[in-house]
Amino acid sequence: MMPDVSIIVPTYNEAPNIAELVSRIERAMHDPFEIIFVDDSTDDTAHQIEHAALSARMPVRLIRRTHPHGGLAGAVTEGLAAATSKWCVVMDGDLQHPPEAIPVLLQRAADTRADVVVGSRHVPGGSSTGLSGPLRRAISEASTVVTRAMFPTRLRDCADPMSGFFAVRREAVDLSLLKPRGFKILLEILVRNRLTVAEAPFTFGERHAGQSKASLREGFWFLWQLALLRFGRLSGFAVIGALGAVANLVIMAALQAINVWYVSAAIIAAVLTIIGNFVLLERFVFHDLRTEGRLLTRFAQSFTYNGLETLVRTGALWAIVALTAVPSILTQAVLLGIGFVLRFVYHSRVVYRPEPGLTPQRTSAVTSGSIPTARNSSVR
Ligand code: GDD
Ligand code: MN
Repeated sequence: MMPDVSIIVPTYNEAPNIAELVSRIERAMHDPFEIIFVDDSTDDTAHQIEHAALSARMPVRLIRRTHPHGGLAGAVTEGLAAATSKWCVVMDGDLQHPPEAIPVLLQRAADTRADVVVGSRHVPGGSSTGLSGPLRRAISEASTVVTRAMFPTRLRDCADPMSGFFAVRREAVDLSLLKPRGFKILLEILVRNRLTVAEAPFTFGERHAGQSKASLREGFWFLWQLALLRFGRLSGFAVIGALGAVANLVIMAALQAINVWYVSAAIIAAVLTIIGNFVLLERFVFHDLRTEGRLLTRFAQSFTYNGLETLVRTGALWAIVALTAVPSILTQAVLLGIGFVLRFVYHSRVVYRPEPGLTPQRTSAVTSGSIPTARNSSVR
């Protein structure tokens, strides 16, 4: 009998968790299913899986990777490729993702007809209590905010793109588009495919046994993944910001050369650069997210924000230099860096926020070579 759902579990040295995981999945599930372990372990996890398979009432398959590549994300992708059912559930092997929530995800899929149902820690009812330590939690929160700002359209309906717990309709995902690497396979799937997303809350629990495999290295791969996925927009924003800074100085110098007082020169230069920045952003960076008839609103929002930012930043610079021993150039560099990130988040989340129910053009960095669809053409 064909299983209704394939449960894909990537494992790296999870031997003490396998038996408990399989039995809890069995207790949680009522409909036919299969479990596919994709294992890269150096301990006896594979042996534990084979052992659990003997007594399981549903098929338990083991893909033992001899040449592991792509880490956790690569393993999940291989699992998806090997799955035979219409729906796949991806979950960790350490019981931080409660098996009891699997039917909840699948029920939500049936209710919403979404392509993906994300087990989310960031919707009412969800939580990430099991995430070890305040630092890890802070990093997770911050990267979620920045990532959603970087992919406002694709992640519009997903509050937790970092989640490793989700159900996906197998046919909705084009696996050949994925470049899996690191831990964030859901992000990869959501950004490189056009999917309808629903979420269901869950509580990210404590590890049953063993240790987390998250590391600084995974953090690096995450940043690299972001750069690859969104090379276009963020780097365009950065280039235009840098051009603006140079233009600002040139204008100021030119005005002072014709005897304009330096404060007036600075103000004029700031205003002109802010306007120029806005025009360039409209044209080159957020061209696919403009909503018709809102030009003046966007301009007002962008102009006010940048004006206030300049005031606040200059005030902060003055205060820090006056009150501490930190050198002014270092202070300004840090402030400019923070300002850059905040400005990007603000423009992505507020000025060019996607209108609900309206699907803007596909973005070039994500789907290069595709024919842009007309604005307002509804896809979902
Ligand atoms: N096959 C394979 N290969 N599996 C791996 C590898 C690998 O290289 N690295 C990790 N895994 C498996 C682990 O054995 C575990 O089953 C699962 O992937 C998650 O790894 P953990 O080490 O438990 O990660 P975590 O708990 O720190 O992070 C989890 O939660 C995060 C939420 O903040 C993951 O689900 C992340 O993707 C998620 O972002
Ligand atoms: Mn874990």
